Amino acid sequence: MPSLPVFSSQIYQASCVKPSSSLFRALKKELSQIEAADAQGHSWSSKNYPNGYTSYGSWDRMHQMSPHFADLQKLLDKHVHAYIKNLQWDVRAREIQLTRIWVNVMRENTLHGMHIHPLSVVSGTFYLQTPADGSAIKFEDPRFNQFMNRPPVKASAKKEQPFLSIKPKAGDVLLFESWMRHEVPIHQSKTPRLSISFNYDWIRA
Ligand SMILES: [Fe+2]
Repeated sequence: MPSLPVFSSQIYQASCVKPSSSLFRALKKELSQIEAADAQGHSWSSKNYPNGYTSYGSWDRMHQMSPHFADLQKLLDKHVHAYIKNLQWDVRAREIQLTRIWVNVMRENTLHGMHIHPLSVVSGTFYLQTPADGSAIKFEDPRFNQFMNRPPVKASAKKEQPFLSIKPKAGDVLLFESWMRHEVPIHQSKTPRLSISFNYDWIRA
């Protein structure tokens, strides 16, 4: 085949913490405790995340506040480094470090519109609860705004469509480059979608 695939991007998905493990149960319990205690987060969420709760605008350094989140960070570090290796980045001049990690609760009719994670290099989410009738995460083809007059892609070419939806299992981690636009369309399950999101930056040690 003379065609050369070029300018590829990668999304990483792997099992990270077994749902039957004590760490998984501790993180899920702690998410409830955070949500119950975080008044500032509820205020932020009521303006920016209607029907849901996130500690993105309040408690976003949970790895420095909780030993369970610090344990999760150690696992995430390994996945992030495997991802970076696959991307073939040369990061030796600085350090890839987790800088922010926060919790998210999407109740019925919560949505998270298209966005990127500015200034970070790798972002991702660890999933605690993903109801079967709930929302997937949806990625946009990074070339999307360059497609002027391109014919549609065959329906069978799932990974070549302009949008790619992924529905991770509880215990999975999903990683992507922070510039990749993504959203979580409106969550229509009665069961909440629970997750922990994070950013890794490339910073001076
Ligand atoms: Fe995001």
